[in-house]
Amino acid sequence: MDIQTIGIVGAGQMGNGIAHVMALAGYDVKLTDVSDDALRKAIEIIDGNLERQVKREKISAEDKAAAMGRIQTTTTLSDLGPSDLIIEAATERETVKQAIFEDLIPHLKPETILTSNTSSISITRLASRTDRPEKFMGFHFMNPVPVMQLVELIRGIATNEETFKACAEVVEKLNKTAASAEDFPAFIVNRILMPMINEAVYTLYEGVGSVKSIDSSMKLGANHPMGPLELADFIGLDTCLAIMNVLHDGLADTKYRPCPLLTKYVEAGWLGRKTQRGFYDYR
Ligand code: CAA
Repeated sequence: MDIQTIGIVGAGQMGNGIAHVMALAGYDVKLTDVSDDALRKAIEIIDGNLERQVKREKISAEDKAAAMGRIQTTTTLSDLGPSDLIIEAATERETVKQAIFEDLIPHLKPETILTSNTSSISITRLASRTDRPEKFMGFHFMNPVPVMQLVELIRGIATNEETFKACAEVVEKLNKTAASAEDFPAFIVNRILMPMINEAVYTLYEGVGSVKSIDSSMKLGANHPMGPLELADFIGLDTCLAIMNVLHDGLADTKYRPCPLLTKYVEAGWLGRKTQRGFYDYR
């Protein structure tokens, strides 16, 4: 299938990054969110991030202008109807994602591929509630999307080969690398990354080290670009907790038990950079 137009649901951190890279690769993008304000902010962020790439001579000013010209925004979900590929990048809550697919489906062409950028929710279960489980799969970007090279492509139990190949071709056109993953809780990256972050929170909780010493240990001792607590703040502590809960529930193993300190921070509304407070204070 020849994919040209891409509908993106959700203009947050992931959605605006996906719109950025898709438009830069030449796709026509329709980006939707619930409010004009959210869309305005997303466009500002995309503009700023493209400008950063112009300044670092990664792209030309013409590339930037062309990419911006390929992005349309709308608060009407049904405007995404004519898209060849939909990437849902809404809040990491299954009921929200399901409701979006339900509202969207009556407006779609029969051949449209539906995907979710979910970081951990079952693709098979999301797919089973749509009219096209064979044309449904996981399309999981890493944050920050314009920088990170990997895209996880996750097959649900019913995903057909044509759908997988079409998505793999899009990843190739983005100049990114696809990793194929089977549909088990949190797939590959988060299955490995989140227990490490959770363990770092336990290390803090048990007083083994301070925030600074834990992060510098992993940066300088294991060559990670960010320490695990800094990374947790970057990803969002609510997202980290949600993923740990998916692992804990889905694999029924106590090794995935979310650290009580992580739960407490989320309950306090200390969600990391996006709320200006997490393991670090950004105020
Ligand atoms: N858009 C475009 N370019 C960006 C950008 C953005 N949003 N953010 C950073 N960049 C660019 C910078 O311009 C810079 O470009 P050059 O190499 O050309 O100079 C480069 O990225 C590095 O940025 P900085 O110099 O500002 O900062 P840095 O060297 O500290 O790197 C980082 C920042 C890339 C975020 C780095 O710290 C890093 O790789 N951190 C780890 C990120 C990570 O692990 N992400 C995965 C999270 S897990 C996930 O996403 C899955 C999930 O489901 C939760």
